[in-house]
Amino acid sequence: MRVQPCVLVIFGATGDLTQRKLYPALYNLWREELLPSHFAVVSIGRRDKTTAEVREDIIEAIRNFSRNDDHAFIDMKPFLELFTYYKLDFNDSLGYGPLKEYLAQIDRTHHTQGNRVYFLAVAPQYFALIADELHAQGMAENTGSWQRVVIEKPFGQDLASAIQLNRGVRETFREENIFRIDHYLGKEMAQNIMVIRFANTLFEPLWNNRYVDHVQISLCETVGVEGRGPYYEKAGALRDMIQNHVLQLLALIAMEPPVSLDTESVRDEKVKILRSLKVKPQDVVRGQYGPDKHGRCRGYREEDRVSPNSNTDTFVALKATIDNFRWAGVPFYLRTGKRLPQKYSEIVISFKKLPGVLYFKERDLASNLLVIRVNPDEGVYLQFNAKQPGTQSTILPVSMDFCQNCAEGFNSPEAYERLLYDVMRGDSTLFTRWDEVEYSWRFVDQIAEWWENSHEPIPIYPAGSWGPKESAELLKRDGRDWLRFTRVGGGF
Ligand code: BG6
Repeated sequence: MRVQPCVLVIFGATGDLTQRKLYPALYNLWREELLPSHFAVVSIGRRDKTTAEVREDIIEAIRNFSRNDDHAFIDMKPFLELFTYYKLDFNDSLGYGPLKEYLAQIDRTHHTQGNRVYFLAVAPQYFALIADELHAQGMAENTGSWQRVVIEKPFGQDLASAIQLNRGVRETFREENIFRIDHYLGKEMAQNIMVIRFANTLFEPLWNNRYVDHVQISLCETVGVEGRGPYYEKAGALRDMIQNHVLQLLALIAMEPPVSLDTESVRDEKVKILRSLKVKPQDVVRGQYGPDKHGRCRGYREEDRVSPNSNTDTFVALKATIDNFRWAGVPFYLRTGKRLPQKYSEIVISFKKLPGVLYFKERDLASNLLVIRVNPDEGVYLQFNAKQPGTQSTILPVSMDFCQNCAEGFNSPEAYERLLYDVMRGDSTLFTRWDEVEYSWRFVDQIAEWWENSHEPIPIYPAGSWGPKESAELLKRDGRDWLRFTRVGGGF
C-alpha cells in the first residue's frame, strides 16, 4: 500500500512519549524513505517554544533514543524542515479555529491534500475534549481526504471508564479511523507469531490441546515505577500490562486461523479468544516489590508520589484457560512484574510428553519447547531430545536457536516505526479494536474486584527476586515450573 501525503499532528509534543518514541521513529522512517513524499509534522504543545527550539529537541531525542545514531553524519535539514511547532492550550476552544487555518496552510505549502493523522500523546482525560473540538471545527470528517486519530494507553481504568472514553472518541471518529496503540503489537516478534503459526507445517498441526501441555507468557522487567507513581498507583501491573500487552500476545498465540489476513478477520479471531478466557480467584497471584536484600533499591511504597500504605500490584501471575475445543484443558500461565532479576518478554509453548514406552519408559525426558522471544532477544528457540555423543546412551535436550537480532549490525525497527507507518497507510491490523479492549477489561475487572474484596495483605517480594513465593507455588501445584530462556549457556 502506498503511503499517501499527510500531515501528522502531534498533541502533547513536548511530552515524554514524543521525545522517546515518536521523534526517533519518524527519523528512522525518514532514513528508510518510508515517509510519504509530501509530508509534514505539526508538533503541538502548551509551552512557549519556537520551531527552531523544537527542531533542537528533535536532534536531542534522536541522539538519546534512536536506534540509529548517525544523524551527525547526515544532512538533517530536509528532515527537520518537516517539523513546525504550534502552541495550543487543549482546553481553549478558541484555539482550534486558528489551528484549522494553520493546518490548511501547511496543506498548501506541503501538498498534503488535507489528510491528517492526529496523534493524541496526551493524558486520556483530553482524548474526548480534543476529539470534540476537532469535530466542532469540521476537522474530523473524511470528506475527500482522510482524518485518523491515534490514542495511547491507558485506555480507561476499568470497563466503565473505557466505555466512557471510547464514547467520547467514537462520537467524532468512526471506528476504522481510530488507531488504539498497543506497542507490543508493533514489536517484530509479536508480528511474527502469526507467521510462525500459520506458515509452518511443523507447528500448525500441533497447536492444540492434543499436543500442547501448557503455555507460559512472561513479561518481566527490572525497572521500578520510574517516577510514574501517580499513574501506577491507579493502574498496577494488572491494568498496566495484563489488560493490554499480555492479553494481546495471548490472543495471537491462541486464536484460530483467520479466514484471511485482512484486519477485521484477524481481530475477529482475537476477540473470540478474549471472550473465552476464564480464570479462578485461587489462580491469581499478586505482589508488590519491597526493598532489595542489600538495601540498595527502595521498595515500591518508598517511591516518589506513592502512598506508604499502597496496595498496588507491581507483579501479577495467573493461570487462565480458554473455553474452546482447541484449548480446553490447557493452562495458560501469565506473568508480569517490575523489579525482577531480568528484563525479557517471552512465550513458551511446552508440548506434551510422549507415552511411557521406548525412551520414555524409564526416564522422564524433557518436554519439547518452542520459545518465542519477543525482547530483548528476538527469535525462536526449539528444544528437543537427542542422544548425547559417546558410547553411553544418554539422552539430553538440545536446541535449535534462531536469534534474529543477534547478528552483527542487525538493527530491528522500533515498534513505533511500524505503528506510525501503518497509521499513515491506514492499516489497523496491529491496533486494537474496541471489542478487544472491552473483553480485556471484562477479564481484568473481575480480578480487580476480587482483590478489592479481599482482606489479605498484598505479598511483598524483595526487589530483584522473581516475585512472591505464591507465583512459583501456582505452577508447583500443577507439577510445573516457570521456565525462562537465558542466553548464558543457552537453555533453561
Ligand atoms: C508500558 C508500560 O506499556 O510497557 C510500562 O506502561 C512498561 O510500565 C512498558 O515498562 C514495557 O514495555 P517494553 O517494550 O519495555 O517491554
